[in-house]
Amino acid sequence: MQEITLQTAKKSVIRCGAGSFEAYAPKLSGRQVFVITDTNVDRLYGDLCSVFGENTHKFVIRAGEKSKTPRTLLEILNKMLSCGMRRNCLVVALGGGVVGDVAGLAAALYMRGVHLVQIPTTLLAQVDSSVGGKTAVDMGEVKNVIGTFYQPEEVIVDPRFLATLPKREIRCGLGEIIKYGALNKEIYNKLLKNTRKLNSGKFLEEIIYDCIAHKASVVEKDETDISGARKTLNLGHTTGHALELLYGKLSHGEYVLIGTYYELQIARKLGICGGQYAENIEKLVLTVIKRAPFFGDIERAAELAVHDKKNETELISLIVPKHEGECAEISIKKDEYARYLKEVSDSLRGENG
Ligand code: NAD
Ligand code: GLY
Repeated sequence: MQEITLQTAKKSVIRCGAGSFEAYAPKLSGRQVFVITDTNVDRLYGDLCSVFGENTHKFVIRAGEKSKTPRTLLEILNKMLSCGMRRNCLVVALGGGVVGDVAGLAAALYMRGVHLVQIPTTLLAQVDSSVGGKTAVDMGEVKNVIGTFYQPEEVIVDPRFLATLPKREIRCGLGEIIKYGALNKEIYNKLLKNTRKLNSGKFLEEIIYDCIAHKASVVEKDETDISGARKTLNLGHTTGHALELLYGKLSHGEYVLIGTYYELQIARKLGICGGQYAENIEKLVLTVIKRAPFFGDIERAAELAVHDKKNETELISLIVPKHEGECAEISIKKDEYARYLKEVSDSLRGENG
């Protein structure tokens, strides 16, 4: 078992390793606990909630991104109030990134903030969303637009939960892991050495810790996403989010992988990334998604990318791979971005259009 304490104003202790749920969840009992989970996780792991003691309430949201809305948030807050949750209660987010984001926001808002513990059960949530305190819901067409920074007091990352995770969701988590590979040399080298083992439990357990350690170091430098350090964690996400909003058929992590592929090609066209390094990053992405899709009307994604929170001007901001362990931020006009997207997509038409 490994532990990292996030050195932010409100310290967040991250406990990582197989068996961490069994070891640390019982220590949360004896408090007034409000567990937020989703329908799938509840079916698989709902019984585990008895570990939190008798004074535990549970609220189950429908599984999926569509639940990440102000409406779900209000339903949760309403339920917390009707259950008589007090100011010193503890919200436990048991689930993937959707549960973590909405439960985190509920914990931040209820009575101006109550205790929060994240127990991530997807690979994506374990390597990324449960750590660092970003909470949010989507509104209309804009993802994560209503939210706060609210550090959990504890994050319990137990890879044993991944045993029931569908392969597709493992792929989504691998998308974020490859993102870390494009930001961190050690992770990059480990990924290249283990391309055939990316799905193995042992490899995942090791890399989960590395990714959390990288994220923790970034969050410590730039907790509230102001200086630019934290922005790097959005590599591949501008295009990924825009495609997710536009097409919505695949999941968040799959669109992040596709976004990384498209943004890598844009970086190549701009001469920012190239050679063997660009080939290796592309290879890693394609190890997970097999092929990048062609989209007939991808230019429309540019309209959605304009609303991305990372943009501080009317330009579209992209974080792209550059060299080993180094990324670059580029800001481009909407029309230019639309043109690049179309060019990349057209180049894929022959392959899978
Ligand atoms: P998710 O929460 O929708 O989970 C994916 C699916 O896996 C769901 O159907 C869920 O019910 C199921 N599931 C969860 N745990 C399971 C398990 N152990 N076994 C079987 N099934 C399980 O999606 P996600 O990919 O975990 O998270 C995506 C969300 O995270 C997006 O909304 C994204 O915006 C957000 N996110 C937030 C941050 C952040 O820093 N806060 C970072 C990255 C992503
Ligand atoms: N996943 C991006 C961040 O936490 O900042």
